[in-house]
Amino acid sequence: MSEYIIKGGKRLEGTVNISGSKNAALPIIAACLLNGGKSILYNVPKIHDTEMMFEILKSLGGTVEKKKNKVIIDTNKINKFEIPENLMRQMRSSVILVGGLLGKYKKAIFSYPGGCDIGTRPIELHLKAFEKLGINISKNYGNIECFCDKIIGKKIDLDFPSVGATENVILTSCLAEGTTIINNAAREPEIIDLQNFLNKMGAKVKGAGSSHIEIEGVKHLKDVSYNIMPDRIETGTFLCLAAINHSEMLIKNADANHITPIINKLEEIGCNLEVEKNQIKIKVAKKLRAVDIKTMPYPGFPTDMQSVFVTLLTVVKGTSVVVENIFENRYRFTQELTRMGAKITIEGKTAIVKGVKKLYGANVKATDLRGGAALVLAGSVAKGITKIQNIEYILRGYEDFVKKLQGLGLDIDIIKG
Ligand code: UD1
Repeated sequence: MSEYIIKGGKRLEGTVNISGSKNAALPIIAACLLNGGKSILYNVPKIHDTEMMFEILKSLGGTVEKKKNKVIIDTNKINKFEIPENLMRQMRSSVILVGGLLGKYKKAIFSYPGGCDIGTRPIELHLKAFEKLGINISKNYGNIECFCDKIIGKKIDLDFPSVGATENVILTSCLAEGTTIINNAAREPEIIDLQNFLNKMGAKVKGAGSSHIEIEGVKHLKDVSYNIMPDRIETGTFLCLAAINHSEMLIKNADANHITPIINKLEEIGCNLEVEKNQIKIKVAKKLRAVDIKTMPYPGFPTDMQSVFVTLLTVVKGTSVVVENIFENRYRFTQELTRMGAKITIEGKTAIVKGVKKLYGANVKATDLRGGAALVLAGSVAKGITKIQNIEYILRGYEDFVKKLQGLGLDIDIIKG
Protein backbone atom coordinates (compact mmCIF):
# COMPACT_ATOMS: atom_id res chain seq x y z
CA MET A 1 0.00 0.00 0.00
CA SER A 2 1.36 3.40 -0.95
CA GLU A 3 1.77 6.17 1.61
CA TYR A 4 2.65 9.84 1.78
CA ILE A 5 5.70 10.97 3.67
CA ILE A 6 5.76 14.64 4.65
CA LYS A 7 8.53 16.61 6.30
CA GLY A 8 6.73 19.47 7.98
CA GLY A 9 7.70 23.06 8.55
CA LYS A 10 8.94 24.14 5.11
CA ARG A 11 7.84 27.56 3.92
CA LEU A 12 4.99 27.20 1.42
CA GLU A 13 4.02 29.81 -1.15
CA GLY A 14 3.13 30.23 -4.79
CA THR A 15 0.38 29.55 -7.29
CA VAL A 16 -1.88 26.56 -7.66
CA ASN A 17 -4.37 25.76 -10.43
CA ILE A 18 -7.68 24.29 -9.36
CA SER A 19 -8.96 21.26 -11.29
CA GLY A 20 -12.45 20.51 -12.51
CA SER A 21 -15.04 19.70 -9.88
CA LYS A 22 -15.39 16.06 -8.84
CA ASN A 23 -18.95 16.52 -7.65
CA ALA A 24 -19.97 18.27 -10.87
CA ALA A 25 -18.14 15.78 -13.12
CA LEU A 26 -19.77 12.66 -11.61
CA PRO A 27 -23.44 13.55 -12.35
CA ILE A 28 -22.47 15.08 -15.71
CA ILE A 29 -20.78 11.81 -16.72
CA ALA A 30 -24.00 10.00 -15.68
CA ALA A 31 -25.99 12.52 -17.75
CA CYS A 32 -24.00 11.46 -20.83
CA LEU A 33 -26.27 8.39 -20.90
CA LEU A 34 -29.23 10.58 -21.83
CA ASN A 35 -28.36 11.64 -25.38
CA GLY A 36 -27.46 8.12 -26.52
CA GLY A 37 -24.66 9.79 -28.45
CA LYS A 38 -21.46 11.79 -28.07
CA SER A 39 -20.51 14.13 -25.26
CA ILE A 40 -17.18 15.92 -25.14
CA LEU A 41 -16.19 16.97 -21.65
CA TYR A 42 -13.39 19.40 -20.79
CA ASN A 43 -11.83 19.93 -17.37
CA VAL A 44 -12.75 16.45 -16.04
CA PRO A 45 -10.49 15.82 -13.03
CA LYS A 46 -8.23 12.78 -13.44
CA ILE A 47 -9.10 11.07 -10.19
CA HIS A 48 -10.14 7.61 -9.07
CA ASP A 49 -13.86 8.49 -8.85
CA THR A 50 -14.17 9.71 -12.45
CA GLU A 51 -12.19 6.63 -13.57
CA MET A 52 -14.74 4.42 -11.80
CA MET A 53 -17.62 6.18 -13.58
CA PHE A 54 -15.88 5.56 -16.91
CA GLU A 55 -15.42 1.89 -15.99
CA ILE A 56 -19.12 1.57 -15.26
CA LEU A 57 -20.13 3.30 -18.52
CA LYS A 58 -17.82 0.94 -20.43
CA SER A 59 -19.31 -2.08 -18.66
CA LEU A 60 -22.75 -0.93 -19.88
CA GLY A 61 -21.56 -0.75 -23.52
CA GLY A 62 -20.40 2.87 -23.74
CA THR A 63 -17.00 4.07 -24.95
CA VAL A 64 -14.70 6.56 -23.26
CA GLU A 65 -11.79 8.12 -25.13
CA LYS A 66 -9.35 10.27 -23.21
CA LYS A 67 -7.44 12.96 -25.06
CA LYS A 68 -5.06 15.51 -23.58
CA ASN A 69 -7.62 17.99 -22.27
CA LYS A 70 -10.92 16.30 -23.06
CA VAL A 71 -12.86 13.11 -22.60
CA ILE A 72 -15.16 11.86 -25.37
CA ILE A 73 -18.00 9.68 -24.13
CA ASP A 74 -20.21 7.78 -26.54
CA THR A 75 -23.33 6.09 -25.18
CA ASN A 76 -24.82 5.13 -28.55
CA LYS A 77 -24.24 1.41 -28.00
CA ILE A 78 -25.36 1.04 -24.39
CA ASN A 79 -26.85 -2.46 -24.16
CA LYS A 80 -26.64 -3.34 -20.45
CA PHE A 81 -28.55 -1.77 -17.63
CA GLU A 82 -27.00 -3.34 -14.56
CA ILE A 83 -24.33 -1.46 -12.62
CA PRO A 84 -21.72 -4.09 -11.60
CA GLU A 85 -21.87 -4.74 -7.86
CA ASN A 86 -18.13 -4.45 -7.26
CA LEU A 87 -18.03 -0.99 -8.91
CA MET A 88 -21.20 0.12 -7.13
CA ARG A 89 -19.65 -0.86 -3.80
CA GLN A 90 -16.41 0.96 -4.55
CA MET A 91 -18.13 4.25 -5.22
CA ARG A 92 -21.35 5.10 -3.50
CA SER A 93 -22.06 8.05 -5.78
CA SER A 94 -22.38 5.65 -8.75
CA VAL A 95 -26.06 5.60 -7.68
CA ILE A 96 -26.32 8.75 -9.82
CA LEU A 97 -26.05 6.53 -12.93
CA VAL A 98 -29.44 5.09 -12.05
CA GLY A 99 -31.11 8.40 -13.00
CA GLY A 100 -29.30 8.37 -16.35
CA LEU A 101 -30.30 4.77 -17.11
CA LEU A 102 -33.92 5.30 -16.06
CA GLY A 103 -34.22 8.59 -17.93
CA LYS A 104 -33.04 7.06 -21.20
CA TYR A 105 -33.86 3.34 -21.03
CA LYS A 106 -36.55 3.10 -18.30
CA LYS A 107 -34.65 0.36 -16.53
CA ALA A 108 -31.75 0.03 -14.12
CA ILE A 109 -30.45 -2.74 -11.89
CA PHE A 110 -28.01 -2.00 -9.10
CA SER A 111 -27.02 -3.18 -5.66
CA TYR A 112 -27.69 -1.40 -2.39
CA PRO A 113 -24.72 0.91 -1.80
CA GLY A 114 -24.46 0.01 1.93
CA GLY A 115 -22.52 1.96 4.55
CA CYS A 116 -19.40 4.02 3.90
CA ASP A 117 -16.54 5.83 5.54
CA ILE A 118 -18.44 8.92 6.73
CA GLY A 119 -21.87 7.56 7.60
CA THR A 120 -24.67 5.23 6.50
CA ARG A 121 -25.67 7.23 3.38
CA PRO A 122 -29.08 5.69 2.65
CA ILE A 123 -30.86 6.20 -0.71
CA GLU A 124 -34.50 6.07 0.33
CA LEU A 125 -35.07 9.66 -0.88
CA HIS A 126 -33.92 8.61 -4.38
CA LEU A 127 -36.18 5.54 -4.36
CA LYS A 128 -39.20 7.46 -3.06
CA ALA A 129 -38.81 10.00 -5.84
CA PHE A 130 -38.45 7.27 -8.48
CA GLU A 131 -41.68 5.66 -7.24
CA LYS A 132 -43.44 9.01 -7.41
CA LEU A 133 -42.36 9.23 -11.06
CA GLY A 134 -44.15 5.93 -11.71
CA ILE A 135 -41.10 3.67 -11.65
CA ASN A 136 -41.58 0.15 -10.27
CA ILE A 137 -38.98 -0.90 -7.76
CA SER A 138 -38.34 -4.47 -6.71
CA LYS A 139 -35.71 -5.48 -4.21
CA ASN A 140 -34.28 -8.96 -3.96
CA TYR A 141 -31.11 -10.34 -2.44
CA GLY A 142 -29.49 -6.93 -2.17
CA ASN A 143 -30.28 -6.05 -5.79
CA ILE A 144 -32.66 -3.25 -6.70
CA GLU A 145 -34.47 -3.38 -10.04
CA CYS A 146 -36.17 -0.27 -11.35
CA PHE A 147 -38.30 -0.33 -14.48
CA CYS A 148 -41.32 1.28 -16.13
CA ASP A 149 -42.94 1.76 -19.56
CA LYS A 150 -42.90 5.51 -19.44
CA ILE A 151 -42.06 8.30 -17.04
CA ILE A 152 -44.59 11.05 -16.49
CA GLY A 153 -43.58 14.30 -14.82
CA LYS A 154 -44.80 14.79 -11.22
CA LYS A 155 -44.33 17.13 -8.26
CA ILE A 156 -41.69 15.81 -5.87
CA ASP A 157 -41.22 17.25 -2.40
CA LEU A 158 -37.90 16.07 -1.02
CA ASP A 159 -37.88 15.49 2.77
CA PHE A 160 -34.28 16.77 2.83
CA PRO A 161 -32.35 18.69 0.15
CA SER A 162 -30.22 15.68 -0.84
CA VAL A 163 -27.71 16.50 -3.57
CA GLY A 164 -27.76 13.02 -5.10
CA ALA A 165 -31.56 12.66 -4.97
CA THR A 166 -32.04 16.09 -6.61
CA GLU A 167 -29.62 15.13 -9.40
CA ASN A 168 -31.22 11.72 -9.88
CA VAL A 169 -34.70 13.25 -10.25
CA ILE A 170 -33.40 15.77 -12.79
CA LEU A 171 -31.74 13.02 -14.84
CA THR A 172 -34.80 10.77 -14.69
CA SER A 173 -37.12 13.57 -15.83
CA CYS A 174 -35.31 15.17 -18.79
CA LEU A 175 -36.87 12.81 -21.35
CA ALA A 176 -40.14 12.25 -19.45
CA GLU A 177 -43.63 13.19 -20.60
CA GLY A 178 -44.74 16.47 -19.00
CA THR A 179 -43.06 18.55 -16.32
CA THR A 180 -41.41 17.42 -13.09
CA ILE A 181 -41.19 19.85 -10.21
CA ILE A 182 -38.73 19.36 -7.33
CA ASN A 183 -39.46 21.24 -4.13
CA ASN A 184 -36.86 21.47 -1.35
CA ALA A 185 -34.19 20.68 -3.95
CA ALA A 186 -30.51 20.86 -3.02
CA ARG A 187 -29.02 24.21 -4.13
CA GLU A 188 -25.37 23.26 -4.65
CA PRO A 189 -23.45 24.93 -7.53
CA GLU A 190 -22.76 21.48 -8.99
CA ILE A 191 -26.51 21.17 -9.66
CA ILE A 192 -26.38 24.41 -11.65
CA ASP A 193 -23.48 22.93 -13.63
CA LEU A 194 -25.58 19.81 -14.32
CA GLN A 195 -28.49 22.00 -15.44
CA ASN A 196 -26.20 23.99 -17.79
CA PHE A 197 -24.81 20.77 -19.26
CA LEU A 198 -28.27 19.27 -19.80
CA ASN A 199 -29.69 22.44 -21.33
CA LYS A 200 -26.75 22.56 -23.75
CA MET A 201 -27.79 19.03 -24.73
CA GLY A 202 -31.31 20.32 -25.45
CA ALA A 203 -33.03 19.63 -22.11
CA LYS A 204 -35.39 22.13 -20.47
CA VAL A 205 -34.30 22.44 -16.85
CA LYS A 206 -34.73 25.64 -14.86
CA GLY A 207 -34.38 26.75 -11.26
CA ALA A 208 -31.13 24.95 -10.27
CA GLY A 209 -29.44 26.92 -7.52
CA SER A 210 -32.84 27.52 -5.90
CA SER A 211 -34.91 25.03 -3.94
CA HIS A 212 -37.54 24.83 -6.71
CA ILE A 213 -36.47 23.12 -9.93
CA GLU A 214 -38.63 22.46 -12.99
CA ILE A 215 -37.79 19.92 -15.68
CA GLU A 216 -39.95 20.00 -18.79
CA GLY A 217 -39.52 16.71 -20.61
CA VAL A 218 -38.24 16.78 -24.20
CA LYS A 219 -38.26 14.03 -26.84
CA HIS A 220 -34.58 13.98 -27.83
CA LEU A 221 -31.24 15.19 -26.55
CA LYS A 222 -28.33 15.98 -28.85
CA ASP A 223 -24.54 15.67 -28.84
CA VAL A 224 -22.82 18.22 -26.64
CA SER A 225 -19.47 19.61 -25.52
CA TYR A 226 -19.06 21.11 -22.06
CA ASN A 227 -16.45 22.59 -19.73
CA ILE A 228 -16.84 21.43 -16.10
CA MET A 229 -16.76 24.04 -13.32
CA PRO A 230 -13.78 24.34 -10.93
CA ASP A 231 -13.74 22.28 -7.75
CA ARG A 232 -14.86 24.42 -4.82
CA ILE A 233 -13.71 21.90 -2.20
CA GLU A 234 -10.23 21.70 -3.69
CA THR A 235 -10.20 25.52 -3.71
CA GLY A 236 -11.13 25.56 -0.02
CA THR A 237 -8.51 22.91 0.76
CA PHE A 238 -5.69 25.01 -0.73
CA LEU A 239 -6.97 28.16 1.00
CA CYS A 240 -6.82 26.31 4.32
CA LEU A 241 -3.34 25.01 3.46
CA ALA A 242 -2.24 28.64 2.98
CA ALA A 243 -3.93 29.63 6.24
CA ILE A 244 -2.40 26.88 8.39
CA ASN A 245 1.07 27.66 6.96
CA HIS A 246 0.69 31.45 7.26
CA SER A 247 1.56 31.65 3.56
CA GLU A 248 0.80 33.81 0.60
CA MET A 249 -0.82 31.89 -2.29
CA LEU A 250 -2.61 32.58 -5.53
CA ILE A 251 -5.41 30.09 -6.20
CA LYS A 252 -6.17 30.16 -9.92
CA ASN A 253 -9.19 28.86 -11.86
CA ALA A 254 -11.35 29.26 -8.74
CA ASP A 255 -14.86 30.64 -8.41
CA ALA A 256 -15.14 32.61 -5.17
CA ASN A 257 -18.94 32.88 -5.53
CA HIS A 258 -19.20 29.17 -4.72
CA ILE A 259 -17.31 29.35 -1.44
CA THR A 260 -18.72 32.38 0.36
CA PRO A 261 -19.01 30.64 3.78
CA ILE A 262 -15.41 29.39 3.53
CA ILE A 263 -14.12 32.85 2.64
CA ASN A 264 -16.18 34.38 5.46
CA LYS A 265 -14.79 31.95 8.05
CA LEU A 266 -11.20 32.42 6.83
CA GLU A 267 -11.62 36.19 7.15
CA GLU A 268 -13.21 35.77 10.58
CA ILE A 269 -10.15 33.90 11.86
CA GLY A 270 -7.83 36.62 10.50
CA CYS A 271 -6.82 35.68 6.93
CA ASN A 272 -6.60 38.33 4.27
CA LEU A 273 -8.29 37.39 0.98
CA GLU A 274 -8.54 39.25 -2.30
CA VAL A 275 -11.13 37.93 -4.70
CA GLU A 276 -10.50 38.58 -8.39
CA LYS A 277 -12.06 37.18 -11.55
CA ASN A 278 -11.36 33.41 -11.56
CA GLN A 279 -8.72 33.64 -8.85
CA ILE A 280 -8.27 34.25 -5.14
CA LYS A 281 -5.22 35.66 -3.39
CA ILE A 282 -4.71 34.72 0.23
CA LYS A 283 -2.19 36.28 2.59
CA VAL A 284 -1.92 35.19 6.18
CA ALA A 285 0.33 37.46 8.15
CA LYS A 286 -1.19 37.77 11.61
CA LYS A 287 -2.05 35.33 14.36
CA LEU A 288 -5.27 33.47 13.69
CA ARG A 289 -8.13 33.13 16.20
CA ALA A 290 -10.76 30.52 17.00
CA VAL A 291 -14.17 30.41 15.30
CA ASP A 292 -17.41 28.42 15.54
CA ILE A 293 -18.73 26.50 12.53
CA LYS A 294 -21.91 24.56 11.69
CA THR A 295 -22.08 22.50 8.51
CA MET A 296 -25.32 22.95 6.56
CA PRO A 297 -26.71 22.23 3.09
CA TYR A 298 -25.60 24.83 0.51
CA PRO A 299 -25.35 27.84 0.84
CA GLY A 300 -24.26 26.96 4.39
CA PHE A 301 -20.76 25.87 5.38
CA PRO A 302 -20.02 22.65 3.40
CA THR A 303 -19.59 19.37 5.25
CA ASP A 304 -16.86 18.49 2.74
CA MET A 305 -14.73 21.32 4.19
CA GLN A 306 -15.28 20.39 7.82
CA SER A 307 -12.25 18.12 8.32
CA VAL A 308 -9.82 20.46 6.61
CA PHE A 309 -11.12 23.45 8.60
CA VAL A 310 -11.04 21.56 11.90
CA THR A 311 -7.39 20.78 11.16
CA LEU A 312 -6.66 24.47 10.63
CA LEU A 313 -8.40 25.27 13.93
CA THR A 314 -6.18 22.82 15.86
CA VAL A 315 -3.32 25.36 15.68
CA VAL A 316 -5.12 28.69 16.11
CA LYS A 317 -5.39 30.49 19.43
CA GLY A 318 -8.49 29.74 21.50
CA THR A 319 -11.28 27.17 21.49
CA SER A 320 -13.46 26.54 18.43
CA VAL A 321 -16.76 24.69 18.42
CA VAL A 322 -17.70 22.81 15.24
CA VAL A 323 -21.07 21.13 14.63
CA GLU A 324 -21.38 18.52 11.84
CA ASN A 325 -25.03 18.45 10.77
CA ILE A 326 -24.88 16.44 7.53
CA PHE A 327 -23.00 13.16 8.16
CA GLU A 328 -23.05 11.29 11.47
CA ASN A 329 -19.57 9.78 11.27
CA ARG A 330 -17.36 12.50 9.93
CA TYR A 331 -14.97 12.99 12.85
CA ARG A 332 -12.92 9.80 12.52
CA PHE A 333 -9.93 11.77 11.21
CA THR A 334 -9.75 13.65 14.54
CA GLN A 335 -8.38 10.51 16.26
CA GLU A 336 -5.45 10.66 13.86
CA LEU A 337 -4.96 14.38 14.53
CA THR A 338 -4.89 13.63 18.24
CA ARG A 339 -1.91 11.35 17.58
CA MET A 340 -0.20 14.44 16.18
CA GLY A 341 -0.83 16.48 19.32
CA ALA A 342 -4.17 18.12 18.48
CA LYS A 343 -6.64 18.68 21.33
CA ILE A 344 -10.09 17.74 20.09
CA THR A 345 -13.05 16.43 22.07
CA ILE A 346 -16.01 14.92 20.23
CA GLU A 347 -19.48 14.97 21.78
CA GLY A 348 -22.05 13.64 19.30
CA LYS A 349 -22.27 16.10 16.42
CA THR A 350 -19.93 18.57 18.12
CA ALA A 351 -16.16 18.86 18.03
CA ILE A 352 -14.48 21.11 20.58
CA VAL A 353 -11.08 22.11 19.26
CA LYS A 354 -8.57 23.70 21.65
CA GLY A 355 -5.78 25.40 19.72
CA VAL A 356 -2.26 24.08 20.46
CA LYS A 357 1.09 25.72 19.68
CA LYS A 358 2.45 22.83 17.63
CA LEU A 359 1.54 19.56 15.93
CA TYR A 360 4.07 16.72 15.78
CA GLY A 361 4.75 14.28 12.95
CA ALA A 362 3.32 10.77 13.45
CA ASN A 363 2.22 7.67 11.55
CA VAL A 364 -1.44 8.21 10.70
CA LYS A 365 -4.14 6.74 8.45
CA ALA A 366 -6.54 8.54 6.13
CA THR A 367 -10.07 7.61 7.17
CA ASP A 368 -11.91 9.13 4.18
CA LEU A 369 -11.24 11.49 1.27
CA ARG A 370 -11.46 14.88 2.99
CA GLY A 371 -10.17 13.53 6.31
CA GLY A 372 -7.12 12.33 4.36
CA ALA A 373 -6.50 15.77 2.87
CA ALA A 374 -6.83 17.19 6.38
CA LEU A 375 -3.93 14.99 7.55
CA VAL A 376 -1.78 16.37 4.72
CA LEU A 377 -2.46 19.90 6.02
CA ALA A 378 -1.53 18.79 9.53
CA GLY A 379 1.66 17.14 8.24
CA SER A 380 2.67 20.33 6.42
CA VAL A 381 3.02 22.25 9.69
CA ALA A 382 3.95 19.41 12.05
CA LYS A 383 7.40 19.21 13.58
CA GLY A 384 9.15 16.17 12.12
CA ILE A 385 7.91 13.51 9.76
CA THR A 386 4.32 12.47 9.11
CA LYS A 387 3.53 9.24 7.29
CA ILE A 388 0.00 8.91 5.95
CA GLN A 389 -1.37 5.48 5.06
CA ASN A 390 -4.58 4.65 3.13
CA ILE A 391 -3.92 7.43 0.63
CA GLU A 392 -6.27 5.69 -1.85
CA TYR A 393 -8.99 7.76 -0.19
CA ILE A 394 -7.24 11.00 -1.13
CA LEU A 395 -6.65 9.85 -4.71
CA ARG A 396 -10.42 9.54 -5.12
CA GLY A 397 -10.89 13.27 -5.16
CA TYR A 398 -7.72 15.37 -5.61
CA GLU A 399 -6.10 15.54 -9.05
CA ASP A 400 -2.28 15.71 -9.06
CA PHE A 401 -2.34 16.46 -5.34
CA VAL A 402 1.30 15.66 -4.63
CA LYS A 403 2.54 17.55 -7.69
CA LYS A 404 0.51 20.62 -6.74
CA LEU A 405 1.73 20.46 -3.13
CA GLN A 406 5.35 20.07 -4.21
CA GLY A 407 4.86 23.07 -6.51
CA LEU A 408 3.98 25.13 -3.44
CA GLY A 409 7.13 23.97 -1.67
CA LEU A 410 5.81 21.12 0.48
CA ASP A 411 8.32 18.35 1.18
CA ILE A 412 6.02 15.41 0.31
CA ASP A 413 6.70 12.14 -1.48
CA ILE A 414 4.73 9.00 -2.28
CA ILE A 415 6.30 5.78 -1.11
CA LYS A 416 4.87 3.16 -3.43
CA GLY A 417 3.81 0.02 -1.62
C1 UD1 B 1 -23.03 14.85 -2.12
C2 UD1 B 1 -21.55 15.01 -2.41
C3 UD1 B 1 -20.73 14.88 -1.12
C4 UD1 B 1 -21.26 15.84 -0.07
C5 UD1 B 1 -22.77 15.69 0.12
C6 UD1 B 1 -23.37 16.74 1.05
C7 UD1 B 1 -21.33 14.17 -4.65
C8 UD1 B 1 -20.81 13.10 -5.55
N1 UD1 B 1 -21.13 13.99 -3.34
O1 UD1 B 1 -23.20 13.52 -1.62
O2 UD1 B 1 -19.38 15.18 -1.42
O3 UD1 B 1 -20.62 15.58 1.16
O4 UD1 B 1 -23.43 15.81 -1.16
O5 UD1 B 1 -23.09 18.01 0.61
O6 UD1 B 1 -21.88 15.16 -5.10
N2 UD1 B 1 -29.62 11.12 2.92
C9 UD1 B 1 -30.64 10.31 3.38
N3 UD1 B 1 -31.37 9.60 2.48
C10 UD1 B 1 -31.13 9.68 1.14
C11 UD1 B 1 -30.09 10.52 0.67
C12 UD1 B 1 -29.35 11.24 1.59
O7 UD1 B 1 -30.86 10.21 4.58
O8 UD1 B 1 -31.84 9.03 0.36
C13 UD1 B 1 -28.79 11.85 3.92
C14 UD1 B 1 -27.35 11.36 3.89
O9 UD1 B 1 -27.19 10.21 4.68
C15 UD1 B 1 -26.63 12.55 4.44
C16 UD1 B 1 -27.44 13.73 3.90
O10 UD1 B 1 -28.71 13.21 3.55
O11 UD1 B 1 -26.67 12.54 5.83
C17 UD1 B 1 -26.80 14.41 2.72
O12 UD1 B 1 -26.70 13.51 1.67
P1 UD1 B 1 -26.73 13.93 0.13
O13 UD1 B 1 -26.98 15.39 0.00
O14 UD1 B 1 -27.61 13.00 -0.59
O15 UD1 B 1 -25.21 13.65 -0.26
P2 UD1 B 1 -24.67 12.89 -1.52
O16 UD1 B 1 -25.43 13.27 -2.74
O17 UD1 B 1 -24.48 11.46 -1.21
